[in-house]
Amino acid sequence: MTFILIKTVHLFAAFIYGGFLFTDNLFCSKIERTYGNEKYKEIRESFMKYVRKVVPPSLIVLVITGIYMFPQVFGTVGNEGLSWFQKVVLLKALLGLWLGLRGFLQVYFGIQPFVFKSHRLPLILVVSILILTQIRYL
Ligand code: HEM
Repeated sequence: MTFILIKTVHLFAAFIYGGFLFTDNLFCSKIERTYGNEKYKEIRESFMKYVRKVVPPSLIVLVITGIYMFPQVFGTVGNEGLSWFQKVVLLKALLGLWLGLRGFLQVYFGIQPFVFKSHRLPLILVVSILILTQIRYL
């Protein structure tokens, strides 16, 4: 029961975090086309004020709930090494942790691990993570 609850929280957090990245990458750039750079910065800042209150904490919840579930689904490593499921879940967890760490350092400590200002790489990582979670039982 606890696992299902934690997994549901994990899914909602992924929904909020991933949803923001999709919106920012696919739609917000269009505002700039319509209103020009100066007005775009103003409009973006007006919603980023609220985004900062919700999205970074969601990422933290995502990582914490993921870390909780990980040992419960990973299982033991057999003599023949990691199974496909274990490899995929491990890769997904590592990508998720990287995303979580870079987001946390950036938002709370102002540290940019790489020189990228857009949210394109985080979106690519989220899409990869979503694909990995779906192919883990192949
Ligand atoms: C941006 C980061 C992340 C996203 C978007 C994400 C997304 C998801 C989604 C959508 C599921 C449900 C998959 C399904 O039931 O079909 C899931 C499950 C899971 N996630 Fe994450 N996750 C992220 C980060 C993490 C991290 C950092 C960890 C571990 C350190 C983790 C570990 C897990 C585990 C163990 C499951 C359960 C897998 C299972 O039930 O077989 N996740 N994640």
